[in-house]
Amino acid sequence: MATDVTTGVNVSQPNGETFDIVILGAGSGGYAAALRAAELDLSVALIDKAELGGTCLHRGCIPTKALLHAAEIAEQTRESEQFGIKAELVGIDMAGVNAYKDGVVSRLFKGLTGLLTHNKNITVVAGEGKLVSKDTVEVAGKRYTGRNVILASGSYSRSLPGLEVDGKRVITSEHALRLDRVPSSAIVLGGGVIGVEFASVWKSFGAEVTILEALPRLVAAEDEDISKQLERNFRKRKINFKVGKPFEKVEHTENGVRATIQGGETVEAEVLLVAVGRGPTTQGLGYEEQGITLDRGFVITNERLHTGVGNIYAVGDIVPGLQLAHRGFAQGIFVAEEIAGKRPAAIDEAGIPRVTYCDPEIASMGLTEAKAKEKYGADKISTFNYNLGGNGKSQILKTQGFVKLVRLDDGPVLGVHMIGARMSEQVGEAQLIYNWEAFPEEVAQLVHAHPTQNEAMGEAFLALAGKPLHVHA
Ligand code: NAI
Repeated sequence: MATDVTTGVNVSQPNGETFDIVILGAGSGGYAAALRAAELDLSVALIDKAELGGTCLHRGCIPTKALLHAAEIAEQTRESEQFGIKAELVGIDMAGVNAYKDGVVSRLFKGLTGLLTHNKNITVVAGEGKLVSKDTVEVAGKRYTGRNVILASGSYSRSLPGLEVDGKRVITSEHALRLDRVPSSAIVLGGGVIGVEFASVWKSFGAEVTILEALPRLVAAEDEDISKQLERNFRKRKINFKVGKPFEKVEHTENGVRATIQGGETVEAEVLLVAVGRGPTTQGLGYEEQGITLDRGFVITNERLHTGVGNIYAVGDIVPGLQLAHRGFAQGIFVAEEIAGKRPAAIDEAGIPRVTYCDPEIASMGLTEAKAKEKYGADKISTFNYNLGGNGKSQILKTQGFVKLVRLDDGPVLGVHMIGARMSEQVGEAQLIYNWEAFPEEVAQLVHAHPTQNEAMGEAFLALAGKPLHVHA
């Protein structure tokens, strides 16, 4: 445990030694590094100004997925008659939904807190830390020195110049997660991951939703076919969206907001959710003063996540790349092992699975068709789309979508792109296929259980290997 010392005095372990690692930030990246380092018998000071678990547990992945699950129940109740079940959706009790969501978060929080605070190798420090030298983080006047430092200070919801977030009418995802009511109508600014997830939730809860996206399609980072299918599904769900025109301004109206997009078109609603990306939390933390290179606020590292300064590493959302909790976990584990001298293999960013939990769900791995063609040449790439219309379990669920495969001719699978209900659960196999550089012919030999949605993946591989089964010509 950290000794209780007076301002300005170094805090060290009980035996008087400095820590092996001082970690600034206890989100997915920081706490994963702490747990792995502790397993490797390294001493850790883990510093955070807020709750252990960071954005993912308190303001991101976990609470939003709880909302999405509640939204799914609302949809299923609404659609129950299609399945011969008589049920009526009489309303959304937001207090009840929030109690359910907060219950999930608090159970996980309790578990994580126990895991970290009961670990003899980890000293948890509550307070705002600042890097004051190449090996020291100061918290409320106390100094925590480490042979190594890991920066893991996470990210925040970005806004746009001139767009003022007031937390009431113009809100971020953090505010949206705490709303005590379902807005009657909502504008979602940004058709990326956060945008489509909240649009999906609010629509299921009964709100009128319009997404405004500057790029020509929703979820523009995904394969183009995925965007098209999502747009088709959203149209069917009566989720409005306007793509290809950037947002220009927002004004307050008597009961809400009015947003204007390029060209002068306006949309009015009760609230506007800003979902235009997340920025790195790196300002005012002493990083630049210690010589760390920042690029638009992100910490630049080499592929071993070293900043090039002293023994300082960086992990998670402050490092350019996918801002995903599981990437943070992997990077945290990697750096702990690197510090312990285990020389772990560098993380292949392309091998990180991506999932968007809107309805329908999107799950993807590796390269999109366009990126694969760009990299290898259009004549070297083959693709196959297996429509969920041919998949028994998907028909039982009444979901629409597909599994799309991208392969290098006479070579491995380069990309797997899926859309449809419950597709998040398929990403595990896609991940193994991609990371083990499997050939479609090899995957086609593996038997997929019937009737599962996973079978759609098996069928797609059979088709790509030249022996389609349930495929219409
Ligand atoms: P994003 O980068 O996914 O999407 C932001 C969208 O806003 C982009 O499509 C962009 O073109 C659009 N945009 C930017 N400026 C605009 C303007 N002036 N007018 C109209 N549109 C504009 O960022 P998002 O959705 O805010 O998510 C932040 C991060 O959080 C992402 O990196 C995401 O991966 C992560 N996240 C992951 C989740 C998951 O894995 N399921 C869930 C939620 C967030």
